[in-house]
Amino acid sequence: MNYAVTAATGHFGQAAVKELNQLVGADRVVVIARNAEKAAQLFPANEVRVADYGDQAALEKALAGIDRVLFVSSQPGGAVSRDQQHRNVVAALKDNRVARVVYTSFPHVDRGQSWLAADHRLTEELLRESGLAHAFVRNNWYLENEASFLKAIAAGQAASYWTDKPMGWVLEAEYAAGAARVLVADQVKEVYEFAGPIITYAALGEAAAAALGTAGKAEQVSKEAYVAGLEADGLDHDTAALYASFQEPAEAGDLSAASDDLATVLGHPLTPLAAAIKQVVG
Ligand SMILES: NC(=O)c1ccc[n+]([C@@H]2O[C@H](COP(=O)([O-])OP(=O)(O)OC[C@H]3O[C@@H](n4cnc5c(N)ncnc54)[C@H](OP(=O)(O)O)[C@@H]3O)[C@@H](O)[C@H]2O)c1
Repeated sequence: MNYAVTAATGHFGQAAVKELNQLVGADRVVVIARNAEKAAQLFPANEVRVADYGDQAALEKALAGIDRVLFVSSQPGGAVSRDQQHRNVVAALKDNRVARVVYTSFPHVDRGQSWLAADHRLTEELLRESGLAHAFVRNNWYLENEASFLKAIAAGQAASYWTDKPMGWVLEAEYAAGAARVLVADQVKEVYEFAGPIITYAALGEAAAAALGTAGKAEQVSKEAYVAGLEADGLDHDTAALYASFQEPAEAGDLSAASDDLATVLGHPLTPLAAAIKQVVG
């Protein structure tokens, strides 16, 4: 049995390859990346195959002879739209008749209202229609998304946010380790909702201040004021609005469902929040 990880050079992919190398040995793990040099530097013990998600023929070649694939979702905003990139990946997976695909999806994507959910919903549909055996690991928010927020608390400052609805932050490497374990498992279910404790920004701020021993405070502001704050920090308006939009899924209630799927798959409790916060702050 051999395995491949796509978008392997990203943060998620790197953590997943590391876990897989430990679980099954690097000689059975192929890394697929668009940047050969970066991949070769990161994974000296793994076979590297090069494919951009925009290039279906290259993907078909890269996936030849692979049994199980961890398909890491692409970033929106590329030259080729993310939905087209994902169509290419699914077509290449189908062409190679892989035995299992594990796809990194979006929490409760079937009811998710956010624009961020749309490509994931489409990709789940394409994989279901493909007839390939599959599992969806629907990752709640990465704690690393909140690095600026947490660093403000670390500096004893006010850390702003605009939604008071809760979400289930976890360290990205723990989601990736969970995905790797689903890839190698004997039996899998179709959907895993990976999430940590469901808490608000206010609670995250309190936990950070306590863990870091600072007087920093989480401060709710309007969405407009949040965007203005990012602009004042030097972001252009569109980028500031994009960053602000990452809280929309929480505001819509899409990130609030508790689940112990991730801890169950990992076989141990998730890193406690205080330790995870310290890791992100560095
Ligand atoms: N749940 C959450 O909180 C959350 C937050 C952020 C992102 N995400 C999702 O999770 C995914 C993985 O996150 P991450 O932290 O690993 O992101 P990342 O560090 O930015 O890595 C993105 C990866 O996608 C690759 N990539 C981008 N466009 C590609 C293309 N056209 N063809 C092939 N590869 C391409 C990048 O390649 P290079 O290394 O060559 O640039 C990189 O390996 C993201 O892509 C996004 O879908 C989820």
